[in-house]
Amino acid sequence: MNRYTPRPTLTAQSHTSSQLVDQWPTAAWKQSFRRKLLAWYRQNARDLQWRRTRDPYRVWVSEIMLQQTQVATVANYFPRFIAAFPSIAALAAAPEPQVLRLWEGLGYYRRARQLHRAAAVIVREHGGRFPREAAAVRRLPGIGRYTAGAILSIAFDAREPILEANTVRLLSRLLAYRGDPRQTAGQSLLWSLAEELLPRRATGEFNQALMELGALVCKPRDANCGECPVRSLCPTHRLGWQRLVPMAKAPPRVEQVREAAVVVRRRGKVLLVERQPGERWAGLWDFPRFPFDGDDAPALIDGVAAAAGVICRPLQLLETFKHSVTRFRITLECHLADYVRLASDKRAAAPKTQWAPTDDLEAYPLSVTGRKLARLVAMR
Ligand code: ADE
Repeated sequence: MNRYTPRPTLTAQSHTSSQLVDQWPTAAWKQSFRRKLLAWYRQNARDLQWRRTRDPYRVWVSEIMLQQTQVATVANYFPRFIAAFPSIAALAAAPEPQVLRLWEGLGYYRRARQLHRAAAVIVREHGGRFPREAAAVRRLPGIGRYTAGAILSIAFDAREPILEANTVRLLSRLLAYRGDPRQTAGQSLLWSLAEELLPRRATGEFNQALMELGALVCKPRDANCGECPVRSLCPTHRLGWQRLVPMAKAPPRVEQVREAAVVVRRRGKVLLVERQPGERWAGLWDFPRFPFDGDDAPALIDGVAAAAGVICRPLQLLETFKHSVTRFRITLECHLADYVRLASDKRAAAPKTQWAPTDDLEAYPLSVTGRKLARLVAMR
């Protein structure tokens, strides 16, 4: 039986037939797909905190946290964040460092700053209620097409499609799409499919079911077709193309970097620098940190002077951490030093610094390595 019809012209324009098995789902295929997918989801959905609510604020926070972050990690952060900021108004009223402190360790801190800014916009322009119109939601800082679709469908059952990492993979396989799903043509094809597959009702459940199938079964390396409720509908399964679809991403160019961070002490306090807009970790506090190729004290003294406007006397290497930020593999040497005096020249471009009592470091939002270093100092 032919389950497919030719693709509509909408997508045929932007795709050569070599990129796509020359078919587009029919009404019968879609109906069967929805039925099988939802039956599977009702049996297999994970019980996640943010699935126990349809409050748009909670759905929104969870979706922002879930960008580029694993479900298991978000499960630790979400309840703490909601306990600290139980409403949009509470989030809007909080000082940014407190928001960043609760985001500490999740990474991609821009998400937290934008969430905070968007809360203020909602209070100011929407009376503190999360907007229901897609255009208004899309105008909020940090909310793109995916996040708007996710919140509006999950919270309000709006008929809005979604497309994120899990569903890109799943939908690419459902079309046996051989083009690059990250390029414009692939994106427009997959968004059209995501829209066409949507049922009339319960779109939030359907969208989450798509993501769940991608997350639990139709995985990047192993498509687990043996466990898949829709394998009989899937051309990638039929063709054995699981390893070819979706097209692999070019691996990132990994770069090795050496840096130093220096704990400068002065009478029970340590020197912190506030990271500025446009810098890595903007809004967080940090120990003076800089690229460090040499391994001598003068290089450390110069680095601290440039980063924080302070002359110090290096005392000892405390610890060396290895960590990754995006494509950078960083070897971080953490040194202890004593304060000597302010740097007389103006090498430092007026960094915002503060002498923080060692006992108060828990209150400052720090990077993950900054926190490790702060705990090391607190133990001394
Ligand atoms: N990834 C992004 N949004 C998600 C959701 N609502 N459930 C599970 N995984 C997700």
